[in-house]
Amino acid sequence: MPGESRTWDIIESVISRPSVFKSRQSLEPDYLPDRLPHREKELEQLAMYFRGLVTEPGAVSLRALIVGPIGVGKTTLARRFAYDFAASAQKRGIKVKVVDINCHAARTLYAVVTSMASQLGIPLPRRGYSPREVFETVHDELEQQDAHAIVILDEFDYFIETSGSDAVYFLIRVYDEYPHYKRRIHYILIMRDLSHVNMVNQATAGYLMKNIITLRGYTVAQLYDILSYRAELAFNPGTVGDEVLKYIAELTGIDGQGEGNARQALQILALAGDFADKEGAGRVTIEHVRKAHALVNPHAIRIQDLITEGALTLHQLLLLLAIIRVLKSKETEPYARMGEVEQEYRAVCEEFGERPRGHTQVYEYIRDLKVKGVIDAKPSGKGMRGRTTLIGLSAAPLDILEEKVVEAIKRLKAGGYP
Ligand SMILES: Nc1ncnc2c1ncn2[C@@H]1O[C@H](COP(=O)(O)OP(=O)(O)OP(=O)(O)O)[C@@H](O)[C@H]1O
Ligand SMILES: [Mg+2]
Repeated sequence: MPGESRTWDIIESVISRPSVFKSRQSLEPDYLPDRLPHREKELEQLAMYFRGLVTEPGAVSLRALIVGPIGVGKTTLARRFAYDFAASAQKRGIKVKVVDINCHAARTLYAVVTSMASQLGIPLPRRGYSPREVFETVHDELEQQDAHAIVILDEFDYFIETSGSDAVYFLIRVYDEYPHYKRRIHYILIMRDLSHVNMVNQATAGYLMKNIITLRGYTVAQLYDILSYRAELAFNPGTVGDEVLKYIAELTGIDGQGEGNARQALQILALAGDFADKEGAGRVTIEHVRKAHALVNPHAIRIQDLITEGALTLHQLLLLLAIIRVLKSKETEPYARMGEVEQEYRAVCEEFGERPRGHTQVYEYIRDLKVKGVIDAKPSGKGMRGRTTLIGLSAAPLDILEEKVVEAIKRLKAGGYP
């Protein structure tokens, strides 16, 4: 039947459509990578804190606290460490199980201990157990199996906020009340910052602030390495150029334009790949990165508003149009040089019948566009002949922006704007 064959064709064409991705799934947030470039020192620190589990198993309950801002690899570090450590312990004949609890979902003591039990496969009566009884049941079962558990308590800030001092104290000091128990439960706590520690009483806070591992935002160079590694896993060979990875790293690195958030960097990479696929481009371009960046960056919408709201003067708009056009002419270069922009600006002025402003004035416009967050401007580094200013634009896809800017210019000219 013709109808049938049409649906068949649609489905077939989508399934067999070529993609830049080899494994897009490996860029998803819950994918656990084998390697963690630039977190080697922190892994080593964790290994030192937990070493006692293989040298003197059961002697003490071990613990570490990982602290760091959003997207810097806290969860991944804890998981990668816990699973690999468990494997190393296993080789030495010590059974270590990993329990992974997100306290955003499990905010009470009861929720945490029952989640421990269920992840360890320990059946509990449907109701009536107190957290302490659940804890004892978990401990007894581990004792029976002669096993240990490394319990990751992710987003522990939420637990502190909801459950307070006594619950925190119970979790980390409960063994004090069982002097004869072997210490079989160990913790990796994860928090965004230490502000929540002030919410618990001093004694408990003192216990919490032990073995702290602080993660900082990734630099441009570090994110470049991370992106290269993850791109190799996720993309078909030859579909993502170095310039694309470098540009994403610059947009997200803490010493670039971002906060050092690896999740955001990977998200931009994945979305850029989606745009490439949607267009059937076969290759990820700088413009795909701009589109992706605009999508994840909340400022992007504001910039289009700035342009339509009339926050820019006529000549700033003409200059912006020049920047957009120079950038559009470059396939693999995210930045335009000042000289090229000025030349294009004069052409744009001619097109719209305006007298171009002088160099100093143009420079002022550039500064102002940068302050307003419309463009990125930075001095060219070494390796370029002569120093110049490099101008980039990451807040929006150029096509959409160009249309808006041209509309705004025409509106201003029609309305006889100052
Ligand atoms: N060093 C690294 N090497 C490879 N991938 C990394 C690295 N650090 C982080 N990632 C990746 O970046 C993303 C964010 O990492 P993760 O979720 O661990 O951050 P987080 O600090 O827990 O963030 P949040 O504060 O939002 O919970 C994940 O996809 C992770 O795989
Ligand atoms: Mg996390």
